[in-house]
Amino acid sequence: MPVINSIAELKDEMAQWRHDLHRNPQTCYEEEFAAGLIAKKLTEWGIPFKDRIAETGIVATIKGQKTDSGKALAFRADMDALNMQEKTGLPYASVNDGKMHACGHDGHTATLLGAAKHLNETRNFDGTIHLVFQPAEEGGNGAHKMITEGLFRDFPCDYIFGLHNYPEVSAGKIAMRIGAIMASVDEFEIKIEGKGGHAAWPHDTIDPIVIAAQIVTALQTIVSRNVDPIDTMVLSITNLNTGTGAFNVLPDTAIMTGTVRTFKNETREIAKKRITEICSSIASGFGAQAHVDYQYTTDPTINTADGVEIAVAAASQVVGVENVDTDCPPVMGGEDFGAFLMEKPGAFIFVGQGTDDGDCHHSQGLHSPHYDFNDEILPIGASWFSKLAEHYMPLEK
Ligand code: NI
Repeated sequence: MPVINSIAELKDEMAQWRHDLHRNPQTCYEEEFAAGLIAKKLTEWGIPFKDRIAETGIVATIKGQKTDSGKALAFRADMDALNMQEKTGLPYASVNDGKMHACGHDGHTATLLGAAKHLNETRNFDGTIHLVFQPAEEGGNGAHKMITEGLFRDFPCDYIFGLHNYPEVSAGKIAMRIGAIMASVDEFEIKIEGKGGHAAWPHDTIDPIVIAAQIVTALQTIVSRNVDPIDTMVLSITNLNTGTGAFNVLPDTAIMTGTVRTFKNETREIAKKRITEICSSIASGFGAQAHVDYQYTTDPTINTADGVEIAVAAASQVVGVENVDTDCPPVMGGEDFGAFLMEKPGAFIFVGQGTDDGDCHHSQGLHSPHYDFNDEILPIGASWFSKLAEHYMPLEK
């Protein structure tokens, strides 16, 4: 595989950083171990950086042999782990109870560190690179917080690029697409206020359970009757909490929570509007009240055509054009990289990490307690970042 030779030589070192990160997972703005390791390495290599952006976030800057082009790129890696118990039994398994790197962000951070070391040594480009180490990707809106704390003001760039490992794609392959590649993530809570009472005197109550049942069914018509059939939406009710525990008591209230996934911001607005309308109309039809709290949590991740063109060119140099899927199907999972792409053009890509052995840790799905990042793909990601710089900001011959 034509990964950059000096990066291939870095593989064992990158794997060591990755295992250290894996052993010490932290979540949601508490990624002090990762931030400490990143700062230590950047300092060792003489790469200037600014830390404490969005709590534990770090941005490092590497200038090319020349900067006459005035061009700049940003590369992002997420640093955070998940609140779950690891079951891999690996020698470098998590030592933090109830925390685990089950999405491979340990690998993403090690990948970007490897690229940093290589790019700093070679500087084989005409421009500037900003390396964005981001906290709190998993439900903490870390990307958005870095933006509001001045990421693109203080570190201006033309494009931003990021990657995610992908167990469903084989190691040695890279996949991406123009347009939406990952969905938005919204969450909502519906509170139905009825009137409780004796289950044998239902006519004296306003039963929130019957109302909730109507609402659960009616909300599915948003997907089938309000959204363009060519468009895509998932609407799932994931919790329905009600009842007193007694078999003969009707409760006062029912609370439902759920999530909406789409690929367009306009479609999210349809969801919010229709959920509110359906809930309040059904509830009032039964003499109850419904309160809807709808939160836009994560933007869809929408790759720009020019960003994908650069990403494909770099990926083809690393894994060969035959191993780059330029039109992979989008997924309904969310990724807060979408917030960066709302501000800047660029691309988010999937780097295959699966193996033929389906039982292997690398082929387990993301967020599985048996999942582990595949160290074999560290040089692929690091080479891709390096080729992005050299392709987009070439030194004149
Ligand atoms: Ni992830």
